Amino acid sequence: MFVPYASRAHEKMQEVLMDPSASGPEVHYYMIRGGSAKRNVTILEAGTVGGEYIKTYGHYHIGNLDETYTFVHGEGVVLQQKLVDMGNPGVVEEFKAIVVKAGDSSYMPPGFGHLMVNTGSTWLVMVDDSPVEGTQDSASMPGHADYEPVKKMQGFAYYVVDRGGKPALMKNTHYAEIQKSDFGGLPVVD
Ligand SMILES: [Fe+2]
Repeated sequence: MFVPYASRAHEKMQEVLMDPSASGPEVHYYMIRGGSAKRNVTILEAGTVGGEYIKTYGHYHIGNLDETYTFVHGEGVVLQQKLVDMGNPGVVEEFKAIVVKAGDSSYMPPGFGHLMVNTGSTWLVMVDDSPVEGTQDSASMPGHADYEPVKKMQGFAYYVVDRGGKPALMKNTHYAEIQKSDFGGLPVVD
């Protein structure tokens, strides 16, 4: 039976944190998956873990699937990145950071991996139209999503960190090359 609710625990998120040894909330985010018809709801915890704002794990889609996220509460940052070659996750063709708030939508084009970051003081609540597949655990790890390249690189090309109460980007040094970047007006810090 498909159970639509799932949560992402700190233990799993440690794979992709800037500082995997930092302590954080037991659950980083909550998911209710209704698919393209009923929509999927994600609620991100507020706060930071080792100086990094709480985020979703991040994934690439398998195949040509796109999706649109609508933000219904809070404020955050969307990260999108496209690899030159899916077999070589350390070389990024294009990286984008997009600042979002309640009322905004963000389109995730095919080929662009994506994750969402909560940079506000409240929950960040978002709704998306991604399909639900029939596998038992698809509420937590949907079958159309590839998490491995993100795990391999310990996250995306930049981490979103707290600098004096405001979001900034910090490079993930595991990445060898980032060919094109749009930081969306966010500062880049060391
Ligand atoms: Fe997705």
